[in-house]
Order: sequence, then structure tokens, then C-alpha cells
Amino acid sequence: MPRRRKRDIIVKGFSKLLKEDKLKIVAELMNNSAETIDLMKSFWHPDKHKQEIFDEFSENTISNFYIPYGVSPNVIINGKMYLVPMVIEESSVVAAASSGAKWWLDHGGFHAEVVDVIKIGQLHFSWKGDVKKLYEVWDELTRAFRTATTHITANMETRGGGITGFELLDMTDKIKDYYQIRVSFNTKDSMGANFINSCLEEFGQTLKTFLSIHPDFKEEEKEVTIIMAILSNYTPGCLVKTWVECDISELNSLDDQLTGEQFAEKFMTAVEIAEVDTYRATTHNKGIFNGIDAVAIATGNDFRAIEAAGHTYASKGGQYKSLSHVEIKDGRFKFYLEIPLALGTVGGLTSLHPLAKQSLELLGKPTADELMMIAATMGLANNFSAVRSLVTKGIQRGHMKMHLMNILNHFQATEDEKQLALEYFEDKIVSFASVHDFLKKIHLS
Ligand code: MEV
Repeated sequence: MPRRRKRDIIVKGFSKLLKEDKLKIVAELMNNSAETIDLMKSFWHPDKHKQEIFDEFSENTISNFYIPYGVSPNVIINGKMYLVPMVIEESSVVAAASSGAKWWLDHGGFHAEVVDVIKIGQLHFSWKGDVKKLYEVWDELTRAFRTATTHITANMETRGGGITGFELLDMTDKIKDYYQIRVSFNTKDSMGANFINSCLEEFGQTLKTFLSIHPDFKEEEKEVTIIMAILSNYTPGCLVKTWVECDISELNSLDDQLTGEQFAEKFMTAVEIAEVDTYRATTHNKGIFNGIDAVAIATGNDFRAIEAAGHTYASKGGQYKSLSHVEIKDGRFKFYLEIPLALGTVGGLTSLHPLAKQSLELLGKPTADELMMIAATMGLANNFSAVRSLVTKGIQRGHMKMHLMNILNHFQATEDEKQLALEYFEDKIVSFASVHDFLKKIHLS
């Protein structure tokens, strides 16, 4: 029988242990338990109460994982100036956003508008009845849905939100006996996941009761199986647009090798490639999400939900495509992005995470609509800078500078050594080995 490795041991009842004991178990499974404990503990917050807040966000927590919190200044959207918080672990993203924002500051700034803010929830069920009857009682049923959820919707309604519509979908041609009730919601400034899911679960119960007591349904039609009740993270009805535009002649200043016209053409071709080629589209859109996710994380929003919606939206025509587009017309260059962004500025982590709260304060306590415009704009700013670099000097030069700093920090280089290295590597390839050799050389000289 093969010998069991230390780490193959099944740990029972882990979630019920105290944090210290969880950490001890993890450390024992490593070969350097004292070091593991020290390292993990060194990232605990010194303020016990603050640490408790973090521990409660998730489960089985044994430490905190730090990600840099940066800011992008000079972001002007619809004439209003923002200092945008960005939380991201990747170098060059904040720099790219900032340089994009800085350039457009002098060329009309960013423009943005929220197209709509509707979200969708779905009640999926199996039923063997006559669907015509369900359509006949549809108004009665939706009234029952509304009545059953007034205790959940009352507050939302006073804030101007609530349930905005119901739709019954007969999907029995795809799956036997399968129907769906698609419900639309306006959740105002909250992301609204809990609100939507609570309503949907209540609708499930209501549907069961409704069919079981309604005189129009035969005995065999009184039975319904609720498969599941959950919001959809695809939010094409929660859409924001952001754009920049300027005279093509203004683009002359963007690169010393290209005229404004040449730059505009090359830039547009790069974006068109992302509209026809899925491999490029994925990277292109990843660059957009660099900016959007960083704002989402900084403000305590769910970046996985946003990414999922964005990528689905990018495939809405049947092929995955670029989310941003270029238009060149009458001597004007326009670069724009249209994207679904279900963001919230109240509820969830937005007020629980002290830094998310701070981020929203830094942004002037925006509404969800305003935050949608800010996040989308940072996506466009990042996308602009990435494509600008790609069609001019390439991205490696900028990336390598950051990479070089990371390597220098790894080797604990002094400030003087860093300065020498920056000059030396201006026109050379950066790698761990080349930086190591360089440092060795200057130590010997
Ligand atoms: C890197 O994080 C993002 C880019 O690859 C985006 C792009 O290629 O457009 C630079």
C-alpha cells in the first residue's frame, strides 16, 4: 500500500476549530510549522476588532492576503474629476489607467451614461400541466407573487426600486416539463443579490401553494417541482456606455513615429482584430477588466459576477468579441465601450470592509449608476493605454520596468543600485539571471 503523505490526512471538523488551532493544523502539515505560523500571523491585523471583521467575510480564515491599493488621479468623467481607487496585484495596470486618464484629461475627458439598471432572477421549475392554463391565471399568479413578497420589497420600493416585471417561459422543447419564470428587478444602489434571491425563493413557495389550491388545476397539475431559484449574473439590462473622442489631429502627440491619422488607423485595426479573432478578443477584454475589476475590488463589489456578465455579453452575437469599439468619421476619433456592470454602493461588503467604505468616500459616495460609469471608464482607460502601447512601442518596455523593480526588491537592492539598474536595463532584456549578474558585477567593481 502506498504510504500516506502528511498532506493527504483527512481533517475532520476543521471549520469548528478556533483560528489558532486551524493555523496549527495547517502549519503541522507543512514541514516548517514555526515559520508558517510566524508568516501567517505576521499578516494578521494588529487591531483585534479589525481582524475579526476580516475573519467573518469568509470561512476557515487563517490569515489575510494583501493586495496593493493604488489610486488613479485626474479621471474626468462627464466634467467631474475623480481620484479612483484601484486594488490590483498586477503591475502596470494603475500606471496604464493613470496615463490613459491623464492623456484624455487634455482632450475632452471621458463621457459616460447608464443605459439601464435592470437585473434578472429566475425561478426554474418542472411541471406536467397544461401551460395554456398557466397563461390564463398569469395575472392572478403574479399578483400573488407580489403580495407574498411585500415584506421583502417594501424597503426597496421606498428607495424607488423593486420588481419590474414577470415573464413565463415555456422551455419544454429544450427540456421535458421545464418552465422558467423570469423576473426583472431594479435594486437601486445595491447589487441586490440577496434581495433578488429572497424574492425568488418566496415565489417558489407561492407557486407551489397557488397551484395546490387553485380550482382551475386538475389533481395531477397541482404538483410542481421547484428546481432552483437564483438571480442571473448575466445583466445585459444593466448596461453602461463610456467613450472618449477627439479630432484625429490631436492624436499626433501620442507617438513620435506615427501621425495622428496613422495612429488612429492602426489603433482601429487593433480593435477590429479583437472583433474578429477570439484569441485576441479575450486578451483585449482582459485588459478592459484590469481596470474594471480593480475598481470593483476597491469598492467591495463582486468582480466574478461582473466578469461573467461581461464575457457573456461579449459573446451575445454568437462569437466572442471585443467589448470596445472604434469609429473614425469626419476627422474625429471615437473609442467607446459598452458593458453590463451590476455594481452596488450600499449593502454587502461596501459598508463592511473598511477600505471599501473608504474607496466610496474617496469617490464622493457615488450612486450605483455613477460607480458603473467610473468602473467602465477605468476599463476604457486601461484598454486605451494597452492598445496604444501595443500599436506603438509595445508593452514590454513599461512592464519590464516594473518587473525590474520587483526583481531588484527581491534581491534587496539599495536605492543607488536601483538607479544604476534602471539606466543599465533601459535597452536590455530583464530577467532574474540578468539582474542578478548585473548586481554581482556592480558589487565587484
Ligand atoms: C495585460 O494585463 C493586459 C494586456 O494584455 C491587454 C491587451 O493586450 O490589450 C496588455
